[in-house]
Amino acid sequence: MNTIFPRPSGAMRAMPATALSGTIKAPGDKSISHRAFILGGLAKGVTEITGLLESDDVINSGRAAAALGAKVEHLGHGHWKVTGTGGRFRSPSEPLDFGNAGTGVRLMMGAVAGSGASAAFVGDESLSSRPMRRVTDPLGEMGARFTTTDGRLPARLDGGPLSAIRYTPPIASAQVKSAVLLAALGATGTTVVHEPRITRDHTETMLAAFGVSLDIQRDGPATTVSLSGPQTLTACPVDVPGDPSSSAFAIIAALIVPGSDITLEGVMDNPARTGLIDTLKEMGADITLTPGPDMAGEKTMMIRVRHSRLTGITVPAERAPSMIDEYPVLCVAAAYADGVTYMPGLEELRAKESDRLAGSAALLRANGVAVEEGEDSLAVTGMGMGGVPGGGMTATHHDHRLAMSGLVIGLAAQSPSAVDDVAMIATSYPDFFEHIGTLGGTLEPAA
Ligand code: S3P
Repeated sequence: MNTIFPRPSGAMRAMPATALSGTIKAPGDKSISHRAFILGGLAKGVTEITGLLESDDVINSGRAAAALGAKVEHLGHGHWKVTGTGGRFRSPSEPLDFGNAGTGVRLMMGAVAGSGASAAFVGDESLSSRPMRRVTDPLGEMGARFTTTDGRLPARLDGGPLSAIRYTPPIASAQVKSAVLLAALGATGTTVVHEPRITRDHTETMLAAFGVSLDIQRDGPATTVSLSGPQTLTACPVDVPGDPSSSAFAIIAALIVPGSDITLEGVMDNPARTGLIDTLKEMGADITLTPGPDMAGEKTMMIRVRHSRLTGITVPAERAPSMIDEYPVLCVAAAYADGVTYMPGLEELRAKESDRLAGSAALLRANGVAVEEGEDSLAVTGMGMGGVPGGGMTATHHDHRLAMSGLVIGLAAQSPSAVDDVAMIATSYPDFFEHIGTLGGTLEPAA
C-alpha cells in the first residue's frame, strides 16, 4: 500500500465564532479502524472495509498488516480490501513503525505474538516514551519473548509457542485486554481475561464477527472473557461506525458557542464509549439522541446538540474508562460551566500520547481558567458562558487531543486561542478542520 494524504501542520488559532450550525457525518471510529486492519490481516479470506478512518495512526496499522504479509488495497475514500494471512504472519525484515499510535502497537504486539512471527516495533517520540510492559508482561507470561528499551519502544519480539493464561489487568485498559485476546488466538488452552471495570469491548465484538468462539460473562461492572486457542479468523465485511471520541470536539464546540444547533450522524452508541454524553447531560447539556442503523455489530445514533448553559459536577471516577480520551475537551466544557467540575480517577491520563492531566491543566491556565491539578484528578473552576478570556497558546506535546481541545476553547472565548502545532490532529481526525469549518468555525494559521 502506498497512500499519501496531505495534512496541515504548524501553529494555528481558533477565532471566536458566532452560532455553529449544520450537520456532519462523524469520522470513522479509530478503535474499530485499527482492529479492522489487524483482524483483517490475521483472517483467512478478504475483508472489505468501508468508512475506515484514514488517519495516520490507522494507516500505520494497515502498513504493519501489509509488512506482516497481508495484501492491503485502497479502493476509494474509506474503502479498503485486506487479503488476510490466515493467521500466518511472516516476520518482517524492517521494524514495524506505529508512529504515534498506542492502540496500533499494543494490539499488534498481541497479534504478532499469537501468530508466532518475530518483529521489531518502533514509534515516534511520544509513543517511544509510553509504557509497554502493561502488554509485554502478560504476553511474556504466555511465553512471548520481548526485548524492550526499559519497558518502552523500540522493542523486539522473537516468535515462539504460547500457552493460555488467566489474567486480571492491573489497570482498566482495552488495549491490554485486546493484546492478550489476540495472542490467545494462537495460544494453546483457554485464556481468561478478567476485568474488574468494563472497558471498550470492540475486540470481543469484532472477533465474534470474524467467526471466533469466545465466552463473555458480565457481573455488574466486571467482565470475564474466555477464548480457547488456537483459532483462525474468517474474513467478514466491516462498516466502521462514527467515532464518539472525535465527535466530542464538535459537541462541545456547539455547547459553548451561543446560538449553536448542530447534528452529528452515525456516531457509535456503545455504553463503554459514551460516558461523556452522560456527563454533559448531567451538566445540563441539551443533547438529543436518535437511534440509527447498526454498523459492525455496534449501535449508532444521530446526536443533536444545542448551545446550553452548563453547571459543574463531580464526574464519577468509575466512569473514566468510558470517556478516557474525552477529558481534555471535557475540561473545555468545564471552563464554560458555572461552578466547579471535579474529575477524579484520572491516573491513566498521564500515560496517554502526552501527560494529558498536566497538558489539560496547562491548556486551561493558558486561556485564563483556574484549575487544580491533583495526582490523579482535575478541578476546573468554570467561568460561565462568555467568561473564558482565551488568548492562550497551548503546548500540544505531540498530542492530537490537546491540539483539538486547545482550538475548541477559543471558539467561544473573548480572544482567539492558539496551539503550537496541529500536525498530530491527523493521527485521529484529519477532517477536523473541514468539519469545524462546515459548522461555521474559523481556524487559521497563527503567527
Ligand atoms: C483504545 C483504548 C484506550 C484509548 C485509546 C484506544 C482502544 O486506551 O485511550 O485511545 O482502541 O483499545 P487504554 O487501553 O490505554 O485505556
